[in-house]
Amino acid sequence: MSDVRIDDLPVRDELRGKSPYGAPQLDVPVRLNTNENPYPLPEPLVERITERVREAARGLNRYPDRDAVELRTELAKYLTKTGGHPVGVENVWAANGSNEVIQQLLQAFGGPGRTAIGFEPSYSMHALIARGTGTGWISGPRNEDFTIDLAAAEKAIAERKPDVVFITTPNNPTGNAVAPETVLALYEAAQAAKPSMVIVDEAYIEFSHGASLLPLLQGRPHLVISRTMSKAFGAAGLRLGYLAAHPAVVDAVQLVRLPYHLSAITQVTALAALEHTDTLLKYVEQLKSERDRLVGELRAIGYDVTESDANFIQFGRFADAHEAWRKILDRGVLVRDNGVPGWLRVTAGTPAENDAFLDAVRDLKKEQEQSG
Ligand SMILES: Cc1ncc(COP(=O)(O)O)c(C=O)c1O
Repeated sequence: MSDVRIDDLPVRDELRGKSPYGAPQLDVPVRLNTNENPYPLPEPLVERITERVREAARGLNRYPDRDAVELRTELAKYLTKTGGHPVGVENVWAANGSNEVIQQLLQAFGGPGRTAIGFEPSYSMHALIARGTGTGWISGPRNEDFTIDLAAAEKAIAERKPDVVFITTPNNPTGNAVAPETVLALYEAAQAAKPSMVIVDEAYIEFSHGASLLPLLQGRPHLVISRTMSKAFGAAGLRLGYLAAHPAVVDAVQLVRLPYHLSAITQVTALAALEHTDTLLKYVEQLKSERDRLVGELRAIGYDVTESDANFIQFGRFADAHEAWRKILDRGVLVRDNGVPGWLRVTAGTPAENDAFLDAVRDLKKEQEQSG
């Protein structure tokens, strides 16, 4: 059996020789590599989840609500309360993580013979989901400081006429937010070129100094805002992502979603978490201040830091980022090497985890200064 490999199978050509998405899941004392929230869910919420799951378990002989109406209604209320723009159930769609939301969007608006553009370095799954859905991928440019090179981006959109434009704000792995004027300019460029769909991935928006771009949905039916409960809500294990857009976009993703894609357990767990929004968002404030502390300390140690609006920070520069990653790991701290030459990424953890990280990189700096 083991002598048969992927490439020996009649697998699609574009999957040959490729590797799956793989942030290392290593068992080390301090794990700051996947932008998770370090705080476990508060006990009253765990109790509430248990209660709602017990109730839902009695109905598991039936399929769940295919359209997740109660959950979408509550997500719409959350967005309306925090996003500065009224959103109704008809504007919201939910799926198993924002990765699935993005997959459904690409199934509906991308696909064979179509293309999507992203401005890299950015969230690597956009390109991978494009590949998985048979959508051609175009790698758009960024400036040296990791902001989007607007003139070059507009040119790429005008020339290549992609069907889907991805804008990640705050961007992963660099951490910086995209100015609303840049998003608007790219939207205009995309409308003039095709018109195409513009997906704004706001996975980290709750950690941002700035506001959500939700109000931009007004009068822009080709704009989609994608969100997740994996980060600010501290519920990465739940797998719940959602989008806000014109109701026609919600109708379009329903053409490609699998029936009953969101299990009854997922729906009630997410509903329970939404009942505790205020408590969960208090952790966001703590993480933001830890993020700012990390930025200050990293700079004081002598590292370069990219401006961060997220719960993680890109820091450098290293002659060999992978070697630096390994040396930090040797000191018991797992950070992320996203393959951006010279840079690594660290997620803001608990104060104790962040102290351990700072000790490790202080030590590394000393070692580098002694050897160089
Ligand atoms: C920019 C961005 N979008 C989406 C996701 C996926 O999140 P989810 O857990 O909702 O699938 C991530 C996860 O790291 C991310 O960084």
